[in-house]
Amino acid sequence: MEAGGITLFVVASVEVGNTTTKCILTATDLGLGKTFLVNKTVKLTRNVRKPRIGETVFGETIFGTPLTRQSVAEIVGDCIIESCNKAGISVAEIDFVVRSTGVVAHFENPSDIGTFIQALADGALLAGVPPSKMVPAVTKENLPEKVRRYSLLDKVFFDGSVAGVLPPRGSTGAEIVANEMEGELSTAGIKEGAKWTDVDFRNPCISMDFGTTFKGRITNDDLPYARTIGNFCGLGGAIADTITKGFLKQKDASAIDLKFESDYGVGEEAFELSEEIHKHIRVEKLSSNCKRFGKIPVNAKAAEDAGILLVGCDVGDNGSKFGELEKIGAEIRDQKLLLATLDVVMAKIFRRALEVVHSEGFFMENMAIGITGRAGITGKKPWLFLEELKDLGLYKKPEKNIVFVDDGLARGAAVMARCMNALGNPKNPLGGLRMSGCVLGERIKLQSGYFTS
Ligand SMILES: Nc1ncnc2c1ncn2[C@@H]1O[C@H](COP(=O)(O)OP(=O)(O)OP(=O)(O)O)[C@@H](O)[C@H]1O
Ligand SMILES: [Mg+2]
Repeated sequence: MEAGGITLFVVASVEVGNTTTKCILTATDLGLGKTFLVNKTVKLTRNVRKPRIGETVFGETIFGTPLTRQSVAEIVGDCIIESCNKAGISVAEIDFVVRSTGVVAHFENPSDIGTFIQALADGALLAGVPPSKMVPAVTKENLPEKVRRYSLLDKVFFDGSVAGVLPPRGSTGAEIVANEMEGELSTAGIKEGAKWTDVDFRNPCISMDFGTTFKGRITNDDLPYARTIGNFCGLGGAIADTITKGFLKQKDASAIDLKFESDYGVGEEAFELSEEIHKHIRVEKLSSNCKRFGKIPVNAKAAEDAGILLVGCDVGDNGSKFGELEKIGAEIRDQKLLLATLDVVMAKIFRRALEVVHSEGFFMENMAIGITGRAGITGKKPWLFLEELKDLGLYKKPEKNIVFVDDGLARGAAVMARCMNALGNPKNPLGGLRMSGCVLGERIKLQSGYFTS
């Protein structure tokens, strides 16, 4: 899209989460390298239509909503069309679609994501997006004419690094955690979102996405690309949902059903309840024989062999102690106290995850911390997370090293689309190290080696 001499690159992030299914449209001003949110259309995944006779249920959300390839495609297609209508653009004006899902709990092993991503592609096709807008361009000529002059495809190619970070890989190329792609997008999105703040969120960094599930990355300071040296996994907002189910005495409820409220305080009682709740929560380094933690399939052996730290969050074993949390929820008497308690519970999960990263020797003082996902940024959480961070004493200036970003994953989709098509902006780089410049030169050098060696 071109408007007033500005070239906008429009990306749709389509995402089937365990709680919400979203189409988020962003427009990146390629001259400035900044991304604007255009429209966000959110539906509840549990309202997906029921499987029809003859369809195969190929997956289910963490709380058991059944999904078929066709039902996923329909909800995704509807979401894209609705989002474009609300934004006042046509589907044809979308330049690129990035698909992802956090619905991975039913996988046998971490690499089973393929079919789901195909169902998302079916949805995009139903909405009228051609397949060419879902795969990286190989040469500039494959890109829309208006964006060609911004593409560096004749200098660098897409080699799998997104916003200057390489994915974690076991030595055999095995996937480490099932929702790694979401961790990758969220990390990239926090890097972009942080551009609007005074926190430099380039590498090395720690990203945490508290959706229904918990995911994220730890990156190191290698150049030109940082390596992923750690991953988070397990339960995130699912913990808040379970407490809420008890409070509302409703089996399919989730924290997202609570009436919006902002004028509540966080007092002693919320801290006491959180302490009770945390007795049932495990936040720990995964042992090397672990295959599933907090319902998320993992390959802890491959992680250990590659020196990658896996930190997980669970309630008992794969949610086995959810019942205890529901009981505590049922005793909370008013919603203000519930909201305050959920905020403290999540802040303490953040603290414990960080403590593991530190005690395992993966923390560096020059690391930035980035948080996204509803269960990490709503209510009083940013303030409470910062208080926990101050209390840990890891930084001289904690507030300069932590950033909260909404819709991290969708922003990451916009970044991923740009990386795939080499639409970076050397004046406003996302890759490289904190407080340093662009790494384009080093990338070119590295990639020229791919051909000569
Ligand atoms: N006030 C709140 N406190 C804690 N958690 C909340 C609150 N409001 C919503 N949540 C939780 O946040 C989660 C939803 O966040 P989000 O939409 O980012 O996840 P998702 O993308 O659907 O899940 P996933 O990425 O794991 O597939 C739900 O578990 C929801 O209940
Ligand atoms: Mg999500």
